[in-house]
Amino acid sequence: MRVCRQVDEFREACDATRRGGGSVGLVPTMGALHGGHLALVEEARRQSSDVAVSIFVNPTQFGPNEDLARYPRDLEGDLGKCEQAGAALVFAPAIDEMYPAEEHTRVHVASLTEHLCGASRPGHFEGVTTIVAKLFAVTGSCTAVFGRKDYQQLKVIERMVRDLLLPVRVVGYPIVRETDGLALSSRNLYLSADERQSALSIPRALSGAVARFSAGERSVLALREPVVAAIDAAGLRVDYATLADADEIAPLSDRVADRALFAVAAFAGKTRLIDNVVLGEDPAPISA
Ligand code: PAJ
Repeated sequence: MRVCRQVDEFREACDATRRGGGSVGLVPTMGALHGGHLALVEEARRQSSDVAVSIFVNPTQFGPNEDLARYPRDLEGDLGKCEQAGAALVFAPAIDEMYPAEEHTRVHVASLTEHLCGASRPGHFEGVTTIVAKLFAVTGSCTAVFGRKDYQQLKVIERMVRDLLLPVRVVGYPIVRETDGLALSSRNLYLSADERQSALSIPRALSGAVARFSAGERSVLALREPVVAAIDAAGLRVDYATLADADEIAPLSDRVADRALFAVAAFAGKTRLIDNVVLGEDPAPISA
């Protein structure tokens, strides 16, 4: 496994793979790798001959009062996990490689970024699309794998690739969960034992929504209220619990169709957790 620190070096390594008749699979991450990330690496290995994992804690996607400074970093541990998972390349650039001095360019996807995490975290998606566009520019033609854990992010990136005609095939991968149902997240490291227990209310509540949807419930109010109540009752602070069109990420107010995104963000103490299901498509996070 080769570790590249510089843009030119990583670009050349990706070019060399393609010149040799191989294909590049890209898994963009911010490190502190867990089983969710590693499942994306495995998926990328099924899709391409050589997998590259990027590890970069992207400052522009964090708000001024967010956890950039304390975001978990463990490059040595991450490199071991990448090697173990069969990655051929790791791209771990310094900040000024990705954001050279006097840079003034941002990539903005409108509409899909207005609601859910876009409303709660102003500027977040502009940071994400800017760094992902740069990663795609350095990697070149590739298959890029993203988790459905960040469902809105996946849809925003798919739209960016389509709109900017980028030579990238975007693949979405299902949410990887702990055996009890909690979605794996680098931020789970922040949780106390009590918060970890309360956090389970999120996948439980979403599982309840899947059951009601399967039983024919289509009212936004009737699907949403019990989810908010259950997460509240567990002592979490709900940031949003929103039913939205699963492609346009536009909130629904009255009735849902036969497929809809149900996305939740909630704070366990200071830790913001997100989770989602696509009703009519995904199984319940916790099977009954
Ligand atoms: P990060 O939070 O490190 O996540 C990297 C990738 O792993 C994302 O595609 C995310 O959806 C996926 N992922 C995280 N937890 C997952 C889980 N439990 N199951 C399945 N996939 C999971 O998302 C980012 O980094 C950044 O915004 C990034 C795209 C790298 C841009 O900086």
